[in-house]
Amino acid sequence: MQLSRAARIILVGAPGVGKGTQTARLMDRFPQLSAISSGDLLRQNVRSRTPLGMSLLPHSASVDSETNACGIGIQAESRMKAGSLLPDSMILRLILNELTTRGWLQSESAMPYTLNSTAAAAVDAFPDDDPFLMTSTPQSQKYRYSDDPHASFILDGFPRTAAQAAQIDNLFPINLVVNLNTPTSIIMDRICNRWVHEPSGRVYNTTFNAPKVDGRDDVTGEPLTRRSDDDAETWKVRLKSFKETSLPLLEHYDKLGVLWTVEGNSSDEITPRLFEEFGRRFGLR
Ligand code: AP5
Ligand code: MG
Repeated sequence: MQLSRAARIILVGAPGVGKGTQTARLMDRFPQLSAISSGDLLRQNVRSRTPLGMSLLPHSASVDSETNACGIGIQAESRMKAGSLLPDSMILRLILNELTTRGWLQSESAMPYTLNSTAAAAVDAFPDDDPFLMTSTPQSQKYRYSDDPHASFILDGFPRTAAQAAQIDNLFPINLVVNLNTPTSIIMDRICNRWVHEPSGRVYNTTFNAPKVDGRDDVTGEPLTRRSDDDAETWKVRLKSFKETSLPLLEHYDKLGVLWTVEGNSSDEITPRLFEEFGRRFGLR
């Protein structure tokens, strides 16, 4: 189905609720949609030892040691393994870099104007008080976004704190926040059966959507792996963190009038409701 306007969507939900699963289904159904998963992006950066928080800065220069770059990747990895969130400042830079690389946001230096006068404050508003940021704060940067349906995107896992959401508000208006709600007792079983194809982010489950060949990705035939944070204990930490941060996040979007909650015991129950709501809001009549 074609879209009538740009959809800028956020998926919010407990770890393992099916954000990645629903994202893949939405993109199949609505081919103009693209997606960014903050978790997948972080895992890619950790895997390739990208100098997170440094190469992502448009004006960074002050850290040049390979060792420091690896150190940052390792710290990100250890936080993820422990189930704790990464610093808002680092995530924002990562996402901004991705949004501009994909052309969904354009920096003012390439464009004659901005749509939002407060955008310049977006990056600078984060205090650089975390151990990952070894560089100077990036200079103020202004951005513009497009309302063309081809500039539609889903953000899976970002923002996940009210502070991250407030910064995104300064960059572009989110027009739908989907709150996916499934009982946590059901989710826990799924996590133990999840297998992923790391390079693509494709997700399988041995009981729900098993790969055609055991342990192999359907598309490339490459081996599937387990995520390092997919054990019961780490999942409980991730769930606790979700419970602490999600209420203020959802309240933030409720006040903006863009929050939509969908409940269901399985992704198969949720998907048709999501398609219907999405089509009603963004589909061509
Ligand atoms: P992230 O990768 O986003 O993990 P998450 O939020 O914990 O969510 P998951 O990816 O585990 O679950 P999902 O909802 O995508 O479920 P899925 O579709 O795979 O983040 C990882 C870490 O990165 C965080 O802990 C944090 O450290 C960091 N991070 C990321 N973003 C950040 C941010 N903005 N700020 C700070 N830190 C950040 O489904 C789960 C399983 O269930 C799969 O196996 C699937 O096949 C299966 N399944 C789906 N539907 C069904 C069904 N109906 N029946 C049975 N199984 C099903
Ligand atoms: Mg996911």
